[in-house]
Amino acid sequence: MELALVYRKLGKDDFKVLRVLDSLLGRYEYVPLDIIERRSALPPLRLTRALDRLSKVKAIVRRPTPKVSYRITYIGLDLLAVYSLSRKDAIAFLGTKIGTGKESEIYIAKDSSGRLLAIKFYKIGRVSFQKVKRVRQYLVDEPNWMIRSKIAAEREFKALKDLSKYTDFVPKVYAWDRHAVVMDYIKGIELYRYKVALKPESILLKILDVLRKAYLNVGIVHGDLSEYNIVVSIEGDEEVPYIIDWPQYVYRDDPQHEVYLRRDVEHLLKFFKRRYRITIDVERAIRYVRGEEESIS
Ligand SMILES: Nc1ncnc2c1ncn2[C@@H]1O[C@H](COP(=O)(O)OP(=O)(O)OP(=O)(O)O)[C@@H](O)[C@H]1O
Ligand SMILES: [Mg+2]
Repeated sequence: MELALVYRKLGKDDFKVLRVLDSLLGRYEYVPLDIIERRSALPPLRLTRALDRLSKVKAIVRRPTPKVSYRITYIGLDLLAVYSLSRKDAIAFLGTKIGTGKESEIYIAKDSSGRLLAIKFYKIGRVSFQKVKRVRQYLVDEPNWMIRSKIAAEREFKALKDLSKYTDFVPKVYAWDRHAVVMDYIKGIELYRYKVALKPESILLKILDVLRKAYLNVGIVHGDLSEYNIVVSIEGDEEVPYIIDWPQYVYRDDPQHEVYLRRDVEHLLKFFKRRYRITIDVERAIRYVRGEEESIS
């Protein structure tokens, strides 16, 4: 069932229970019922009802032995993040899922002024499940992965926040909560699907300019740059590339950063050479990004 529909079925008690399970993520795989009782401070009947409702929508999973206990799922975490983001007034309306990445799900949303937003919910761990079919389903919601998803969301929020001080070519970011990041919705098409660029060279230069500002002003390297992590939007008669998907960035003072920078630039130039026959010298492009070269052409 759609997240927004499930969300509307739930009430205060349900979110209270989810919050308890979430807050104990690092400490228990399954949280014993008596602890949920104590921490939620809900009367027994209301707690039972909340647990039933949450189980039905797969926001939690029950384990009967050795003693009755529950754990939160990614659906539960999604619901809790939406609840908390709407209480913080970061979102006012939750729409449908618009994208599924290897490590995330993207939903469309709106804020109270009607601005279109994208919410990226990190779902780290799921990919292992898809790749290795034998891995059991329960591993998908393993607490460590949820914690890693939260760390990824915080990292992406921070990177986008810092980057947007220096460039318009990343989505503006508004909030993060748990494993979710709220950013501008980019109405566009991923670079790999965008086959009829009018000014490919200008797109490439804009992307290199973002990499340069990331490096020089923010001090970071994207680390996973590809035609899949660039969304081209047509604004007026300009083709604007937005660089997305930043959680794996590395700092400029990390000894590994040169390897990542080279890989990002090589990957980008290869793509533009293959598709548009544009050739720019890799070494020169790297020097440009590092600020050792004032212009690229
Ligand atoms: N702000 C946004 N506005 C519009 N669409 C977006 C936005 N962010 C992400 N998307 C869409 O969702 C897809 C997945 O996003 P993203 O690359 O950030 O996640 P991911 O889990 O790392 O994906 P993958 O592993 O496939 O690279 C993007 O390719 C894009 O189509
Ligand atoms: Mg991506």
